[in-house]
Amino acid sequence: MALQRSALVASGKSYRAEGISHRVRQINISAIKEMPLLGSRIGGCVSLGQGIPSFATPLHIVEAAFDALRGSPDTGKYSLGPGMAPLRKAVARDLNLKTGIQVDPEREICITVGAMEALAAAVLTVVDRGDEVILPSPNYASHIEQVLLAEGIPVFVPLLQSSWQLDVEAVAKAVTSKTKAIILCNPHNPTGANFRESDLRCVIKIALENNLFIIADETYDFLVYDGERHFSLAVPPEVREHLIAVFSFSKKYAMTGWRVGYVCAAEGILDQMMKIHDAVAICAPTLSQVAALAALSGPQDCVREIAGALLRRRNLTCERLDRLQEHFNYVKPMGAYYLMARFNAPHVDSMTYALRLLHEARVISIPGAAFGPEGEGHIRLSFGGTESEINEAFDRMERWLESNPFHHA
Ligand SMILES: Cc1ncc(COP(=O)(O)O)c(C=O)c1O
Repeated sequence: MALQRSALVASGKSYRAEGISHRVRQINISAIKEMPLLGSRIGGCVSLGQGIPSFATPLHIVEAAFDALRGSPDTGKYSLGPGMAPLRKAVARDLNLKTGIQVDPEREICITVGAMEALAAAVLTVVDRGDEVILPSPNYASHIEQVLLAEGIPVFVPLLQSSWQLDVEAVAKAVTSKTKAIILCNPHNPTGANFRESDLRCVIKIALENNLFIIADETYDFLVYDGERHFSLAVPPEVREHLIAVFSFSKKYAMTGWRVGYVCAAEGILDQMMKIHDAVAICAPTLSQVAALAALSGPQDCVREIAGALLRRRNLTCERLDRLQEHFNYVKPMGAYYLMARFNAPHVDSMTYALRLLHEARVISIPGAAFGPEGEGHIRLSFGGTESEINEAFDRMERWLESNPFHHA
């Protein structure tokens, strides 16, 4: 049975097909973006949906952007394609601090329009029509659409349901002569898993043995809980010629709207990716690059504050879910700010569940099916919102569940 990944289509929207490329017809806007859109049409919704952290961009970053706009006309112009040289240098320094690796800012770094542009460019650079790409399931919805956009074939490898950790044996078994790449997001959206270093090293071994690329999405590298450590796939030197590592300023510095991230890859790979970057973006917004430079060079207390607040929100979300044990079970997230809540409504699919929760309780969640086959039976909850938003959403959910909405299911 084909999974319904689109909330808009499930809600009755039909798309024009005539004259539209097959490539585009077969992809979706991810349900992560569709559900807030549907919510905005209904009005009065509270969100556990899209991963937008509630924090304002720190003031010193905003002020640096204002100063640059006032002080230098260059701020309103294109930068060099790969990004402003001082920012690439700062990124290389930061990568060295967090992973110990040495990269050449001139040849191995490109500043991109968020992590998203880098991920799309990475997939389009290495995936040809019919190539297989291994994705954990569940997995970040946009990776699936990016593989389909490149006319590749997503090959879903289930995560271990009891922990959402990687099943490395299953990854090894999924490799065929058509496999081209593995995409791994860690810490993991949508499950909140922080993958084990030993498993990640096994995945690297599998990639090297089979001559595969690894596309590493490390958007949440700064955000792990309870004393855990994040292991970056960029660390082991042997993976260098196989790795495209993607990072973001969005969550770490509360800059989701600035649209700035970066990619690190060996020169021969990055040179090819730059063709796509040039064709679709020219460069990341210069003003946002100025802001990103201020973020990296300024005080880092803001990052600690964001991580501290998200830890409190994770604990609150878990406490509220624990009060609903009859309705949900879940694996406690150890990184990022999402969890997959498995609902106790056996004959209801996740799209129906999330749409009814939206219409009847005005709570935005994301249907698990958007994240691949193993997402079915779950809704993804984000705890990026404030504690009062989280409490309000759970108050509404509790009232809704008390009304026994799936009585007839
Ligand atoms: C796993 C993952 N990758 C990439 C992105 C996109 O990040 P950016 O805002 O840097 O494009 C997100 C945003 O939520 C994400 O969760």
